[in-house]
Amino acid sequence: MTLKILLTTAVAAMALAAGAASAEDLNPQTRANLEAAMHGEAFANLKYLRFAEVARESGNDELAQLFESSANVEANEHFAREADALKLDGTNDANLVDAMAGEQYENVTMYIGFADQAEAVGDLRAAAMFRQIASDEGDHYERYRAAAERLRQSR
Ligand SMILES: [Fe+2]
Ligand SMILES: [Fe+2]
Repeated sequence: MTLKILLTTAVAAMALAAGAASAEDLNPQTRANLEAAMHGEAFANLKYLRFAEVARESGNDELAQLFESSANVEANEHFAREADALKLDGTNDANLVDAMAGEQYENVTMYIGFADQAEAVGDLRAAAMFRQIASDEGDHYERYRAAAERLRQSR
């Protein structure tokens, strides 16, 4: 790396550290794009890890390593940088509120809707899976709600 690139990188890092832009300062479209990008990166990470398993089971270690190395970049570089830009990690209270909202949406709305749609077109096994996962998400919601309550009582 040349000195010029190093200096440019350092200046950019200082500008970020100075808090030039908090997540709230971001344009709503930029925030939405960051969310969409993070969904894609998280999905690619898990998908590539499954592809790597297939490659390894078929005896192709080189291909397995290619998928694993890409999966690592998607999660630990791309997702991580986008999450930092979005200031994803708040306080424990805020994180629990965020997690509860997601689990409740999946429990009450999303998976039930998916199950109803699958049933309507005769995909009964998929429908049953959606209902079972909806129930799991309800358990997740309940655990987060209880943790939030314990956190409040510990003060
Ligand atoms: Fe990526
Ligand atoms: Fe969940």
